[in-house]
Amino acid sequence: MNVLITGGAGYIGSHTCLELLLKKANVFVYDNLSNSNVKSLVLVEELARNKVGFYKGDIRNCYELSSFISSNMIDCVVHFAGLKSVGESNSDPVKYYDNNVSGTISLLKAMERCKVKKLVFSSSATVYGTPNELPISEAAPTSTINPYGQSKLLVEKILADVAKADSDWKIANLRYFNPAGAHPSGLIGEDPKDIPNNIMPYVSQVAVGKLEKLSIFGGDYNTPDGTGVRDYIHVTDLAKGHLAALNYLNSSQACGFSSFNLGTGKGVSVLELIKAFEKASGKNIPFDIVARRQGDVAACYADPTKANKVLGWKAELDIERICQDAWRWQVNNPTGY
Ligand code: NAD
Ligand code: UFG
Repeated sequence: MNVLITGGAGYIGSHTCLELLLKKANVFVYDNLSNSNVKSLVLVEELARNKVGFYKGDIRNCYELSSFISSNMIDCVVHFAGLKSVGESNSDPVKYYDNNVSGTISLLKAMERCKVKKLVFSSSATVYGTPNELPISEAAPTSTINPYGQSKLLVEKILADVAKADSDWKIANLRYFNPAGAHPSGLIGEDPKDIPNNIMPYVSQVAVGKLEKLSIFGGDYNTPDGTGVRDYIHVTDLAKGHLAALNYLNSSQACGFSSFNLGTGKGVSVLELIKAFEKASGKNIPFDIVARRQGDVAACYADPTKANKVLGWKAELDIERICQDAWRWQVNNPTGY
């Protein structure tokens, strides 16, 4: 199987490339390196003892992308390429719609041209907005409050229309909950360019002494300890979810456009996460409780039953393992790649 991975040099993409290579797939990465370092792929090759076909390019260049797809005889695509900072999407919405929405349209055109019609898309639990019910199932209503979330929801709608118009298309839409952790080797992991927005890389940098202390955004939520609750999923579990989705697309079971939650089903509060990280690292994590962050929900965790049943996939690793692996990556690579 020849798999194109857009955005494959990034955090989730590199872990997915590794799992695919370990299963003997042929992996071809197309990435403009706008938020990644090609060193991640060198290390993936080292870990897998196998090669990745890499091309530095932007998915919005439909001509180049089409020729990459046809010259490598691609069978299916996993589409990670996109921008993911909620804050930046608020200040520069055009950049987000152009990259995430126009980029996906360019990819769909290139795939049509090359008659490749199997696609796995990286969506996000952000499309559920403020959930009415917990855990969240795929049938829950969708809504978004920022251009990043809106770009994911727009792409989901485009993909559903594409599959409706042409029954040859098979599309698995994966809604990730909170990806965290790193490969257990400590060789590849998350490498934020600036001060991290997400909690796990922030806590790692506090533990290693790069940042002074964590600000906990809100201690008065209607949750067991007052802090925000999320469904943290180990990046290796998440990567394996993509393999399960590709197997599903290659089976007779696959039909049109289907959404799947990729989460553990378990909610973890900010205070519980800090405790788990302190245990994993042996370091103290100083924190202050400050005002809530605008746009945050109190609690968000998945009902992963559909992915368990239909994809035959289940998250295996808990928050302790996530913290141990995040810490190993942080200690081994204090300045990233
Ligand atoms: P990442 O930034 O590490 O990886 C994205 C990759 O895409 C990067 O290597 C970047 O260089 C590349 N890229 C961006 N725009 C491109 C373009 N126009 N052409 C070619 N390459 C381009 O992010 P990640 O955390 O690995 O996320 C991967 C996907 O999963 C994204 O679509 C993101 O929105 C989605 N997602 C991430 C999270 C999360 O918390 N990490 C949660 C939900 C969904
Ligand atoms: N938090 C803090 N302090 C920080 C950072 C975060 O207290 O410095 C708290 C947040 O308030 C929240 C929890 O930690 O309660 C998790 O926050 P993250 O920023 O790590 O993650 P989010 O749930 O806000 O969002 C993430 C991605 C989104 C994605 C969403 C669902 O950033 O892109 O998960 O997948 F859409």
